[in-house]
This record gives sequence, structure tokens and C-alpha cells, in this order.
Amino acid sequence: MMKTDYFKDKVIVVTGASSGIGLASARLFGKLGAKVVMAARSLDKMLSLAPEISDNQDNVLCVKTDVSVEDDCRELIRKTVEKYGRIDILVNNAGLSMRAMFKDLDLSVIHRLMDVNFWGTVYCTKYALPWLLESRGQVVGVISIAGFSALPARTGYSCSKYAIRGFLDTLRIEHLKDGLNVLVFAPGYTESNVRNAALVADGSPQGKTPLDEGKLMSAEKCAEYLARGLKARRSQMILTGLGKATVAAHRLFPRLTDSLTYSFIAREEDSPFK
Ligand SMILES: NC(=O)c1ccc[n+]([C@@H]2O[C@H](COP(=O)([O-])OP(=O)(O)OC[C@H]3O[C@@H](n4cnc5c(N)ncnc54)[C@H](OP(=O)(O)O)[C@@H]3O)[C@@H](O)[C@H]2O)c1
Repeated sequence: MMKTDYFKDKVIVVTGASSGIGLASARLFGKLGAKVVMAARSLDKMLSLAPEISDNQDNVLCVKTDVSVEDDCRELIRKTVEKYGRIDILVNNAGLSMRAMFKDLDLSVIHRLMDVNFWGTVYCTKYALPWLLESRGQVVGVISIAGFSALPARTGYSCSKYAIRGFLDTLRIEHLKDGLNVLVFAPGYTESNVRNAALVADGSPQGKTPLDEGKLMSAEKCAEYLARGLKARRSQMILTGLGKATVAAHRLFPRLTDSLTYSFIAREEDSPFK
């Protein structure tokens, strides 16, 4: 595990901290001495995980939050500041995916993904921003390779992640002289619950994954990259060899990348192309 004092006593809010990358990040920040605020809808789960985050339970706060609800995000930030008096880092990680062709898709799925992924990031960032400016802190958006190079059968997912990138890249320039760091963090395929929870055409959860999750990057490794990026105050990180190659190919050879992406998704188990 990484060793650093960088996170000691920093107040870090992590949305989507009940599972996957968010939980692994909360665990890592806790071990590195941060005061960790865990936000997600599953309060009981977070409370049962809290003893694993820090030996000192005063350094963990769990807040039941649906990031698609603006008032919940306002309350998350209010409760954080009430307990710790400051915010150093906001990790907008809460997210939801989908898997269906647009022609078959109930439009409520795109609304839901934009509400959770995009608006969740906007709401939390809006209410945390005054505190992040005061601490000269950092805001992170956990996007995806699909936020650089579109993934078929994930229209709602790709557009929400592109939108977060546009939002955060703009925010970075607005506050270039204010000491705020804005990190766009794009994991590649990572072992988690995201594909089980992904919505299908009618808005119900997929309930299974087309990938061999055990062969993907672990959520712990992904969290370690995030911590390294924050320590170095990076503005963008793209993970995995496949992810880096995809983003570079998309920029240099966009039409070829469309064909390669088509073939890649066509080979998936139960591919929506079939
Ligand atoms: N795993 C990958 O391959 C991968 C790759 C690239 C990017 N990502 C991104 O990484 C982030 C974390 O996903 P993950 O892979 O760790 O998936 P995960 O295991 O499914 O975790 C998703 C987290 O988001 C929370 N969440 C979902 N809807 C929410 C809502 N309305 N309000 C608050 N929290 C909500 C969930 O908690 P509750 O259900 O308790 O609310 C859970 O803690 C997502 O933004 C995802 O798009 C993942």
C-alpha cells in the first residue's frame, strides 16, 4: 500500500462510497489518516463498513445521499462542514451504467443516468465549491474511458461522462488562478458492481455482468491511482493500457476506432448488436 502523509487530516467527501471504486478509495483515504465522509443511498451498508475505514470512528461520517436529489447533496456538504469545519477534496464517484441499444431504450434511462452521473456531480460540486476554494482543495470527477471514446449500447452512460468532462474542464479554467485543482479521472474496466447495477432498455437492473470481473483492474488498484493523482494534483488521468490506447486512437483515427469499438462490443456476451 502507498505511504504518504499527504492525506493526513484532510477532509475528503466520497460519493458512491458503499461499493467498488468509492469504497476502496474511502478505505485507502482512511488508512492514510484522512477524515472520510462516505455518501451513498445504502446508509446501513456504509455504517457497517465504517469500522474498516478508520480506527478512529471520529474520522468517519456516513451520510445517506441520493446524488440525483439536489437537497441531499446540499445536506451532505452541510453535515460535512458541521462536523469537520472544512472540505479539502470532493470525489464525485457515484455512478450508474446502462446496456441497451438506443432504438430499444426507454428515455427514462437516459434521464436517470444524467441525473445520477452528471447532475449528481454538478450538485455536489456546487455546494462544496466555496469550501474547496477556501481550502485551495481539489474536486474529482470519476468518469470513464467512455467519457472520451463513446461506447455503443451505452448512449446514456457515454453522454453523461462526456458531459461531466466538459463541466469539470470548464470549472478548471474558471478557477485557474484560485488554487483549486480539478481532476478528470477515467478508470478503464474495473472490478465492481457497476455492470450488475447497469440499467437495461426498460430501466430495470441488468443483474449480471458480461465480463469476467476477476480479470479486470481491482477497485483497490484503481483507488491507489486516484490517490497518486490527487497527491500530484493532476488534472487528468486515464487508466489501463486498453483505456490509454482507446483514447489515443479515438483522437488520431476516429473512424477506425468506431469500427474497432463496434467489433469489440459485438464480441461481448449477449451483445446488444445481435
Ligand atoms: N467499474 C468500472 O469498470 C468503471 C470504469 C470506469 C468508470 N467507472 C465509474 O466509477 C464510478 C464508481 O463505480 P463502480 O464501478 O465502483 O460501481 P459500483 O460498485 O456499482 O458502485 C457505484 C456506487 O455509486 C453509488 N450510487 C449509485 N447511484 C447513486 C445515487 N443515486 N446516489 C448516490 N450514490 C449512488 C452506489 O451506492 P448506493 O447504491 O448505495 O447508492 C455505489 O456506492 C462510477 O461513476 C462508474 O461510472 C467504473
